[in-house]
Amino acid sequence: MSKNIDWSNLGFGYIQTDKRFVSNFKDGKWDEGALIDDANITMSECACVLQYAQTVFEGLKAYTTEDGHVVCFRPDLNAARLVDSCKRLEMPTFPEDKFVEAVVKTVEANIDYVPPYGSGATLYLRPYMFGINPVIGVKPAEEYQFRIFCTPVGPYFKGGAKPITIRVSDVDRAAPHGTGDIKAGLNYAMSLHAIVDAHNQGYDENMYLDAATRTKVEETGGANFIFISADGKKLITPKSNSILPSITRRSLMVVAEKYLGLTVEHREVFFDELKDFSECGLCGTAAVISPVGKVVDHGKEICFPAGMEDMGPVTKKLYDTLTGIQMGRIEAPEGWIKTIK
Ligand code: PLP
Ligand code: COI
Repeated sequence: MSKNIDWSNLGFGYIQTDKRFVSNFKDGKWDEGALIDDANITMSECACVLQYAQTVFEGLKAYTTEDGHVVCFRPDLNAARLVDSCKRLEMPTFPEDKFVEAVVKTVEANIDYVPPYGSGATLYLRPYMFGINPVIGVKPAEEYQFRIFCTPVGPYFKGGAKPITIRVSDVDRAAPHGTGDIKAGLNYAMSLHAIVDAHNQGYDENMYLDAATRTKVEETGGANFIFISADGKKLITPKSNSILPSITRRSLMVVAEKYLGLTVEHREVFFDELKDFSECGLCGTAAVISPVGKVVDHGKEICFPAGMEDMGPVTKKLYDTLTGIQMGRIEAPEGWIKTIK
């Protein structure tokens, strides 16, 4: 029985669900893992995650399709990216097949929380791993916990498809040769001051530029950028070693080329080019595709011709095609959809 939740009015928040998957790494190996009821974690006051932020995470969603199945989108890529994140922070890797199995188990165990088709909501899954044993000298932990919880969510930005306004941040998110290309909690800690300040100043998000030269567009705190050329025929998306390789963005590059016949450019994007683009959007699991209407750089406004009322026409096509694939209305490329029920 589906839970009695007002699905259509959900924001992007945490609602505790029934079960979570937990697996522990001790003496050099992972245990079998299990679904448990307890949503709380007890650990040492000196746990490595608490002292030195040794934690990495992922984000993916489960959807109810038009014909009533429950699926998730490319979980194998989340499994692979978690491996990359773990290696960078000297953590043991979680086997990729076990990751996908754990995703399936977590969704199955919380199936009543998967929002119905057409509600606008989805079930967000948060896999994560952290160093749990006491560590006081700076070194990696020896014991780890891997968990997945899930929570039903609505749109990441209030207003859903309404274009947002972002500003160029004065602080950097990621250093060259730093950790911007992995999904480590520390990258998000680093963005908290900037996001609070952006909200206080009336902006929805921050645009981070490359830390070395501050001339190139990187990403926001939680999504990659896509831009559409003036003639509407090209999708341009920033390439950099310090942005997170978004699964949504990589998927949209395929959708743009194979489904919509656009040319795709994955390259360095200079901030000065923004004025030449017709549309701008943020893409990510949480953000899906959120249109950006305006970028403000210290008082100077760059307004995209698509305007502040609606998603631009090409962004809309990308959005409709991507969500159509995720919700089973449009045939997916081989291997993109993992059917759970
Ligand atoms: N960039 C950052 C910093 C993110 O946190 C996310 C969210 O996962 C993304 C981009 C989008 O990545 P994905 O499409 O894999 O969710
Ligand atoms: C996601 O899109 O899954 C993320 O992790 C972004 C986060 C800022 C909510």
